[in-house]
Amino acid sequence: MPVDEALTALRIDGERFRADFEALAGIGATGDGGVHRPALSEPHLEARAWFRERVTAAGLRFHTDGAGNHSAVLACGPAGAPTLLLGSHLDSVPYGGRFDGPLGVLAALEALRMVQEAGVSLSVHLEAIDFTDEEGTLFGELGSTALAGTLTAEALRESRGGRATLEAGLARAGLTEAGLLTARRDPASLAGYLELHIEQGPRLADAQVDIGVVTGIVGMASYRLAFVGRADHAGTTSMADRRDAGLGASAFALAAREVVIDDFPGCVANVGDMRFAPGAFNIIPAQVALALEFRAPEPALFRRLEEVLMERARAEAQRFGLGLEVERLGWLDPAPMSKVAQRAFVEAADALGLRHVSLFSGAGHDAQSLASLCPVGMIFVPSVGGASHSPREFTRWADCVNGANVLLQAALRMAIDGARP
Ligand code: GLV
Ligand code: MN
Ligand code: MN
Repeated sequence: MPVDEALTALRIDGERFRADFEALAGIGATGDGGVHRPALSEPHLEARAWFRERVTAAGLRFHTDGAGNHSAVLACGPAGAPTLLLGSHLDSVPYGGRFDGPLGVLAALEALRMVQEAGVSLSVHLEAIDFTDEEGTLFGELGSTALAGTLTAEALRESRGGRATLEAGLARAGLTEAGLLTARRDPASLAGYLELHIEQGPRLADAQVDIGVVTGIVGMASYRLAFVGRADHAGTTSMADRRDAGLGASAFALAAREVVIDDFPGCVANVGDMRFAPGAFNIIPAQVALALEFRAPEPALFRRLEEVLMERARAEAQRFGLGLEVERLGWLDPAPMSKVAQRAFVEAADALGLRHVSLFSGAGHDAQSLASLCPVGMIFVPSVGGASHSPREFTRWADCVNGANVLLQAALRMAIDGARP
């Protein structure tokens, strides 16, 4: 099919796309509509093996790298041409939803199959990629930071899921830390990266808009804070004499909320876990390790929020007579999306007669790691009720198909135009 005809006529095969989606959603299914596929767990490895089988069944070349990123490759451009990546991730948060990640990987695979079947020649090659550990069970955007060349041995030593989890996961998948550091790609080899994802919030559904064209992705930081007190008898120690680590950690969680609401519009903070030690009814908590994440839309605000939260952590520790240990376990800068990619998505949505709006992403995505490497772009499709990172996550199938068609058509536009400034 000539490329001009493909631009007007080529659409994904919605039936095949759906059959793949349903099959994949069965791997690690939790029985309540969700999936449990933390990065490099057994169900995640099973999903990766399934994807690999679908790639070869489609007659596409399977490729993997030192970070365990899995790809389907379609050589549809001239020899030596750069590659346009399309994709997302197959791992999930613990007890998450079935759409977050797989939708983008399967839409990418379907786009490659359509281009292959139509025999369209482009100015670039296409690659549908599943990135390792987007969700941060181990590290966060692990495969994409490895591919971007921003992953370091030092950062791996302080991965947010903990060393033991990282080592066990890598061993299960046959990966190594040294291998992770070899996955970097040459920017000249890439024409860009496009990703379809669910919105994970209510804006598109509320406004009854089909497609969200992402303008930028929020910066995300992960910290482990340990409030350190003293174990004592819970019955015989007076209230005045206690050094109760639980009070410092709890007061900090409330203070973080207050700080963000009062002074940091557009930002968020989350205390997602607290571990009490020794952890008994009748012992005053000697230590509480708390998992803190905070996010901000632009760099200056992000750094200021970090300063203020750390100040508050120190203040709350002092107030309850505690020590404080601070570990920074992850930092991803906010990333703007490429204007070229945004334009390709807008043109594709217009050509398909779909309503679209530009919006900013409060969720993290592999596109943000790749933004330093090549032109990147994302679109969102509506999430019913805005639910995500939950089995309640749901997107109507017609919206999934719309998103996949916009991805395909935008990829064709990028492939024809190249990376226009
Ligand atoms: C990834 O989904 C994140 O935003 O945590
Ligand atoms: Mn995701
Ligand atoms: Mn997610």
